[in-house]
Amino acid sequence: MSPASFPGRYPASRLRRTRRHAWLRRLVEETRLTSGDLIWPLFVHEAEGPVEVGSLPGVWRLSIDGVVDAAAEARSLGIPAVAIFPVVPAERKTPDAAAAVDADNLVCRCIRGIRQKHGDTIGIICDVALDPYTSHGHDGLLANGEVLNDATVAVLARQAVVLAEAGCHVVAPSDMMDGRVGAIRTALDEAGRSDVAILSYAAKYASAFYGPFRDAVGSAAALDTAGDLGVADKKTYQMNPSNTDEALREVALDLAEGADMVMVKPAGSSLDVIHRVKTSFGVPTFAYQVSGEYAMLQAAAAAGMLDLEAAMLESLVAIRRAGADAVLSYFAPAAARLLAEG
Ligand code: PBG
Repeated sequence: MSPASFPGRYPASRLRRTRRHAWLRRLVEETRLTSGDLIWPLFVHEAEGPVEVGSLPGVWRLSIDGVVDAAAEARSLGIPAVAIFPVVPAERKTPDAAAAVDADNLVCRCIRGIRQKHGDTIGIICDVALDPYTSHGHDGLLANGEVLNDATVAVLARQAVVLAEAGCHVVAPSDMMDGRVGAIRTALDEAGRSDVAILSYAAKYASAFYGPFRDAVGSAAALDTAGDLGVADKKTYQMNPSNTDEALREVALDLAEGADMVMVKPAGSSLDVIHRVKTSFGVPTFAYQVSGEYAMLQAAAAAGMLDLEAAMLESLVAIRRAGADAVLSYFAPAAARLLAEG
């Protein structure tokens, strides 16, 4: 058989031809990662100076001024938005998460600080969830050994309005209560904030990879006490990592309730879910490369087991390739710097 009769086959076809030169590899590149695809999660605390998070090397809890400066850095790196997470002092956490709806709480003061300095030139995204504020570390209110759904949703809707009124551009319900997106949309609209967008953590798994985040915001210690109240983990509201059909139902419901963008989390262990969500719905689909994913790569690199820069960019481009339009990642500034260097 001559090669001509099988034009699609070796030896006429040699896929290595387009891998031969760097310029050609660039031309045939299918997925591109840019700084414009990244969202930088930041931790704000009440203290003055920065404090590194032990389980997240290179990630710091910052003062409000520190976050305002980080937002400037994000802007200069071409990162479109930051996601702000408050570290609430233990003495301000209560069973009813009262501080979550206090218009002068830490995250609201931080939002106002960013808006004052940067206006609308950088996006501000905030979680809607009660876990930073509950003394038991759960994302909802507890009673009789149960995380209450509807009572929690009522508080979340108020929390979203408080965040919007402080100047948050995008509220991101990360609690996984049923019906919260619709309640938040209604509450925002009734408060005259139809301009504020909802990024729902639609498919959020009960994952072991959130450990370092819970250290960072201090909800790990709080959650340690939750077992005594009858709810030791988040498996009655966050999804079972075995399921993907259920993820699609979550996304469908959140979209029907008014979500503008949906999120899958964690990212690296859910690439199939990201792909199904994007291909099934064709809506803006974000993914969160969570704290444990970041910590694993940092730890392996620190042990001399892999090249951090290469692994960082590969992990992010893989999330984009799966179908994510944007990625929340603690690597955002480092990756943006590398991308700028080419
Ligand atoms: C809280 C929240 C969590 C994360 C984002 N928002 C933790 C959790 O659900 O326990 C995790 C982010 C990360 O691990 O980087 N609702």
